[in-house]
Amino acid sequence: MTAPITPLIAGNWKMNGTSVSLGEVRNLADRLAAGTPPRCTIVICPPATLLERLSEIAGPAGIVTGGQDCHTATSGAHTGDVSAAMLADAGAQYVIVGHSERRTNHAESDATVRLKALAAMAADLIPIICVGETEAERDAGEAGSVVVDQIAASIPAEWTGKGIVVAYEPVWAIGTGRTPTSADIAQMHLTIRRELETRFGERGSAVRILYGGSMKPSNAAEILAIANVNGGLVGGASLLANDFHAIISAV
Ligand code: PGA
Repeated sequence: MTAPITPLIAGNWKMNGTSVSLGEVRNLADRLAAGTPPRCTIVICPPATLLERLSEIAGPAGIVTGGQDCHTATSGAHTGDVSAAMLADAGAQYVIVGHSERRTNHAESDATVRLKALAAMAADLIPIICVGETEAERDAGEAGSVVVDQIAASIPAEWTGKGIVVAYEPVWAIGTGRTPTSADIAQMHLTIRRELETRFGERGSAVRILYGGSMKPSNAAEILAIANVNGGLVGGASLLANDFHAIISAV
């Protein structure tokens, strides 16, 4: 029998937030202090410009932080990029890699995502490795095989340090207000769990598998209750303390 998995709720701010947004984190910290202790790990992944300041506010409130992407290299001539070590230096403990917006906007392949996950581990960060099918792939009945292939090629064969997190994010559900049915989420998360167990044995049983894509206060409790859903990767609803706190409370 493996130990129960502590759920993880991660907020992905994407390209949103300036100094003013730090007020939302203070607000969230106040809510957490006033209520019952959360039953999950809470992560906020702000833009890199806010990471250090946000980490300082979040830390005392028991909230950890993460980056939204990292380069595959540790340093060098890569104008505009940020390395995993830089994120760690700014206070991050996690980093999202392979988000569908990176895969689409920056043509990131599974092979690149895998190298980013390795770079994250080398910097002692936990990579949140994202996978998910497009709407056309789902309509064609290929969702399961697409995700299995992404898992095979994006997750390094070996992982060291603090482990990995996998986020299943159907591309068509991101920012659209649409979500898969609970049965579809359950089926995909079971598929992912089996893949992880086949490859990594008991360690695969302990990996947190997050659901992401239009998670919000009104659907969080239902989604988080599904077997093998060990938390959420939350975009839009993580920007306001009110909504994000409601999702944390739904765990
Ligand atoms: P959303 O984004 O919650 O706004 O749909 C989720 C994500 O892209 O991580």
